[in-house]
Amino acid sequence: MSMVTDVLGQHRAFMAKGRELCMAQPWRERAFYENWLGQMYYFVAQSTRLIPFAAAHFDTDHEASFRRCLDHAKEEAGHEQQVINDLRALGRRIEEFEELPSTYLMHQGQFHLISRVHPASFFGISLYMEGLSLAAGQEICDAVLPAHGRAAASFLICHTQEDEQHTAQAISQVKQLPADAQVAVVRSMRLAHFCFSGMFDGVRQMAAPIPVAA
Ligand SMILES: [Fe+2]
Repeated sequence: MSMVTDVLGQHRAFMAKGRELCMAQPWRERAFYENWLGQMYYFVAQSTRLIPFAAAHFDTDHEASFRRCLDHAKEEAGHEQQVINDLRALGRRIEEFEELPSTYLMHQGQFHLISRVHPASFFGISLYMEGLSLAAGQEICDAVLPAHGRAAASFLICHTQEDEQHTAQAISQVKQLPADAQVAVVRSMRLAHFCFSGMFDGVRQMAAPIPVAA
C-alpha cells in the first residue's frame, strides 16, 4: 500500500471521539460503575496476556518493538488485581458479573490482529487506552472518587498517571514502522474504539435492565 497512514492524525481523532464517549457516561451511578469495573476486569485479565503475546510475534528485525512490549508487560502485570480490589471495596465479587460480547471482542479481536495481520497492531489499542487515560482519566476520577470513594478507584487512579511524553514517544516510534504495520496500528485503534463504545452501551443496559412487561 503506497498511501501514507497518518497515525498521529488518526490518534487525535480517536481521542476526541473517545473523550466524548467517556464524558457521556454516568460515572456517579453505582450500578454503572460496578458493572464497568466488572468489564474492565475481563479486559485487563486478557490484555496482560496480550502484551507478551505481541512481543513473541515480533521477529528479530523488530527488536525495538519487541523490547517495548516486554517493558510494557512488566508495567501491566497484576493490574487485574486492582479491579478485584476496587470491586471488593464496593462489596462486589467478579463472579457476579458476566463478560459482555463487546468486551470479549475487545481482547480477542486484538489477539487476531496480532497473529493474523501484524504484531504492531498491539500499539493501536495501547495508544488508544493510554491516550484516553490522558484525555479523560482525570475527569472520570473527579466524578468517581467523591461518589464511590478512593478505595474503590485504585485502577482508575493508577491509570490516570500516564505521562504525555510516553504517548508522544510511542507515536513517533510507530511512525518509524513499515507502512503495513502503521495501517495495522490504525485498524487496531478503530477496533478498540468500536469495542469500548459497545462495552459502555452494554454496561449501561446491565446497570439499568429494561423491565420485562408483566
Ligand atoms: Fe494497567
